[in-house]
Amino acid sequence: MNNLFDFAEACLHQADIETKLALTAEAWQLYQQGDLQFEAISPPKDISCVVFPARPELLAPRFMKRRKLGTPEGVQAFYHSLAHIEFVAIYLAWDILYRFRGLPVAFYQDWLQVAQEEAIHFHLIRTHLRQLGMDYGDLPAHQGLWEHAQETAEDVLARLVMIPRCMEARGLDVTPGMIDKIRSLNDEDGVAILTRILNDEQQHVQFGSKWFNYQCRLQQLDPDAAFKSMILKYFKNAKPKGPFNTEMRLQAGFTSNELAWLASP
Ligand SMILES: [Fe+2]
Ligand SMILES: [Fe+2]
Repeated sequence: MNNLFDFAEACLHQADIETKLALTAEAWQLYQQGDLQFEAISPPKDISCVVFPARPELLAPRFMKRRKLGTPEGVQAFYHSLAHIEFVAIYLAWDILYRFRGLPVAFYQDWLQVAQEEAIHFHLIRTHLRQLGMDYGDLPAHQGLWEHAQETAEDVLARLVMIPRCMEARGLDVTPGMIDKIRSLNDEDGVAILTRILNDEQQHVQFGSKWFNYQCRLQQLDPDAAFKSMILKYFKNAKPKGPFNTEMRLQAGFTSNELAWLASP
């Protein structure tokens, strides 16, 4: 296999975690060697064909037990939920490049880099979780993360707003506080992993901003207006919750207009 879209199709349509990580690493390796093809031969399958593993069990957030970080079980649950976020992020990166065709090669290269980094994030968190005596899949996980992908399967502009510029941008807001908390637990490995993830995620959001602006130019849309209308549509007239990490979001390509609007009541 040496075609990007064949790798994407394989990663999205089989559930085995190790195979998915190996395929992602192999695609990245081929790309680094200049041996990866970027010409799509067949159209994408419907998003309903994407396959997730049997475990973890996916539940609505209201059915998930809340645990505080102050207990060993709470720390395990914290890393389990992070592992799930990173695991779904692998799918999200493969899905955006699989589903939306006819874009510049740089679009596919950027999201392949994201897929590869999400696979590393997942691996780092899972290894840490195993050292704490638990594996990914041992607890139920949040079912909502994939829903925004399903809702935006037909619209690349909406996908760019909802995934990199909402979900991943939220990571920039909340991760510094998480790092402080786990530092207070003397979990230095955890601090190192989360710091690395935070740095990588800033670039993922920046890729989102870059391709969002590209799409706006292509569709002759005003970016501020397009951002607002997409958020209001998918948040059903609400907005993402703050507080927002203004500094990191600005570096990741948010405009001061967008940030002022997000922070306004
Ligand atoms: Fe990540
Ligand atoms: Fe990410």
